[in-house]
Amino acid sequence: MTVCKTSALDLKALQEIENSSFSSDHISARQMRYHLKNPRAIFLVSKENNKATGYILALTHVQGYARIYSLAVSSDHRGKGYGRMLINSAIKKIEEKNIVKINLEVDQADAKTISLYQSFGFEYVSVLPKYYADGRTAIKMSKVLNG
Ligand SMILES: CC(C)(COP(=O)(O)OP(=O)(O)OC[C@H]1O[C@@H](n2cnc3c(N)ncnc32)[C@H](O)[C@@H]1OP(=O)(O)O)[C@@H](O)C(=O)NCCC(=O)NCCS
Repeated sequence: MTVCKTSALDLKALQEIENSSFSSDHISARQMRYHLKNPRAIFLVSKENNKATGYILALTHVQGYARIYSLAVSSDHRGKGYGRMLINSAIKKIEEKNIVKINLEVDQADAKTISLYQSFGFEYVSVLPKYYADGRTAIKMSKVLNG
């Protein structure tokens, strides 16, 4: 089990994970390619035997905050700690920058993922009705970094 920076060679596998993990609001192959070279992106891939199992994409902003934009683990690798490892690695990378707060949005109905983020210190901020393209409601969560 490893986590490293995403490369162009990982994108095909990550697109498959992305498309099978979300019912709407997919990140396109084009967006993924853009973020490989985006200096404000923290784009990490988890691997097992050199095969991609999941990814996390976080974006940092000049205003001093970051946003976890997406997180997904392939369905046949869930429940093995990849999600936790990806979040942990992204937080460490974000902490190396001049960032005071990390924001994210998560499906209000996804209690498992909400409690996963809570275990990293993310706290409930607000409800975002109809946040997703298919009408689902999100909750906004954030974690303040102590510098
Ligand atoms: C959310 C997601 C990334 C978690 O990845 P994962 O690799 O399965 O997560 P982990 O194995 O690290 O498990 C994290 C926690 O979730 C819980 N969990 C994991 N699998 C579970 C399962 N099958 N049943 C119940 N709880 C489970 C556990 O509480 C675990 O905590 P622990 O480390 O204290 O045991 C993954 O489920 C996923 O890709 N879901 C679809 C996409 C999605 O919803 N992304 C989130 C967008 S905000």
